[in-house]
Amino acid sequence: MYLNKYEELILNGEYGYIKAKALKALVKMGEALGANKLIRISHAHISGISYTTIGEVGLELLRELALEKVCVNTTCNPAGFDLTHWRRLGVPEEYYKKQIEIINLLRKMGVKTTLSCTPYLTENISKGDHISWAESNAVLYANSITGAMTNREGGLSALLAALVGRTPNYGLHLQENRKPTVIVSIEINNIEVDEPSILSAIGYSLGLKVGYGIPYIVNSKILTNLELIKYFMAGIGTTSALGMIIISHISPDERNIKQSDLKGLDRISLGMDDIIEVYECFNEVSIDKCDVIYLGCPHLSLDELLYILKFISSVKIPNNIKVWLTTSRNVVNKIVKLGYNVIELWRKGILILCDMCPIVAPLEKLKVKNIITDSAKAAYYLRKMHKAKVTLMSRHNILKLLKNIC
Ligand code: F3S
Repeated sequence: MYLNKYEELILNGEYGYIKAKALKALVKMGEALGANKLIRISHAHISGISYTTIGEVGLELLRELALEKVCVNTTCNPAGFDLTHWRRLGVPEEYYKKQIEIINLLRKMGVKTTLSCTPYLTENISKGDHISWAESNAVLYANSITGAMTNREGGLSALLAALVGRTPNYGLHLQENRKPTVIVSIEINNIEVDEPSILSAIGYSLGLKVGYGIPYIVNSKILTNLELIKYFMAGIGTTSALGMIIISHISPDERNIKQSDLKGLDRISLGMDDIIEVYECFNEVSIDKCDVIYLGCPHLSLDELLYILKFISSVKIPNNIKVWLTTSRNVVNKIVKLGYNVIELWRKGILILCDMCPIVAPLEKLKVKNIITDSAKAAYYLRKMHKAKVTLMSRHNILKLLKNIC
């Protein structure tokens, strides 16, 4: 692989052995994947920062890497609990200490501990920017909606890239690889286009059908709300290795497609049956058996949270149920300024949670087993990682149900 003078110096240890190690690992990875050189990145987003997912081995590695600082703007995914309300949530002290150590190490490295999986809502990312992002929904959003360029990185490769400001030049960093490989039409009419669970179910189904490559969605009547399109991306990322899709009239990369690129491509369609199949796959919990109703995978935006609160903040949730709403700290600060009292809402059973993702939380220790959610991604991972019983339900029905049972 070609390295410029600066990169050679890093590799030779002029900037310390941690950076040398990071660059060496990226070069090895790049060579294995056919990269001819490294490219500069303007931003990194790291996943896998929860103690649940990285454990002692990951913590040990982080202690070593934290002797150095990142050299580009770097954000990170959610952790295992809300940093303010961890005790109220029931997180054990020993877990708390481990997770806080991880967060402090990241801070020491200069990582902005945003602890949110929607960096595209807060970070300044533009079309054509080379970035190194982990977290599948964010990668799909960045490539497909913003037109930034990133491969689907793992937490470690994104962190190594952040340390040296470089990533291997292959895959979705190359314009010629950002072309459609299959044409998709979504044949669904007369459904609510603003329903997260439907968007996530279609994405989930698309991921199952396509698996890899770049689907070109030519009929995108239901993909109009750029705020809620994240549920579609999260669904796709759950069931496939896809890092990018092209949506007609939305994706910046559409303008680079030539007619000849579409010649001979397979065509598939998704219909109502595919969505129903996903709902049927996650249908184990009724409202009377549920411990937690969970909304916010990916993290809720300010408008979504305000909409949900308008619906349920005056409702007294039954004692046996808690409503978990995950979002970023940035959004929580805004709703507090708007006059919402987070503690008061907690007392009512409405837990506004930032910094965290239930999937990487110590859920068993929090005694959460039966969950209703509007996200196919959450349903899939809650079952897979925590053996929880799950039901995928529309947000609309969840909110209606909450009003009616109270
Ligand atoms: Fe975010 Fe966790 Fe869902 S990281 S996308 S809330 S699985």
